[in-house]
Amino acid sequence: MRTPALAILTAAVLVTGCGGSGGSGRPSLAEGARVFATSCSSCHTLQPTRGTAPPGGPLGGYRFTNAQIESFVRTMPVPRPLSDRERRAVAAFVAHAERSGAVDRPAPR
Ligand code: HEC
Repeated sequence: MRTPALAILTAAVLVTGCGGSGGSGRPSLAEGARVFATSCSSCHTLQPTRGTAPPGGPLGGYRFTNAQIESFVRTMPVPRPLSDRERRAVAAFVAHAERSGAVDRPAPR
């Protein structure tokens, strides 16, 4: 009997699609920051690191497009699968962090 599982899945998609801060439309940077903190920060920082780099390394020095970041995110071993919205949110957040100048550039090699 597959219907209940499908109904739950659909409900979950609807909830994650519409819920959270900001409601509809583009996900906010705060939403992306939250996804980064829960799904990416175990392996990445946004700053250049001193001492031991985390396994995924710092992301601050890149100039990826949102689309490039999203496609990387699809291949990342995240702790749980991300929704499309979460993927867009975290890509926008990382892209913003890379461009905002808030993040130091690593020295050119
Ligand atoms: C379990 C560890 C892990 C997690 C969690 C993880 N990553 Fe990664 N990530 C890596 C590793 C390792 C690489 C390097 C892969 C390579 O070079 O082939 C990488 C590479 C990347 C890259 C390409 C830049 C580079 O340095 O190669 C981006 C962008 C990226 N990750 C973003 C993210 C985002 C955004 C998240 C959260 C949604 C995330 N990652 C979660 C381990 C992780």
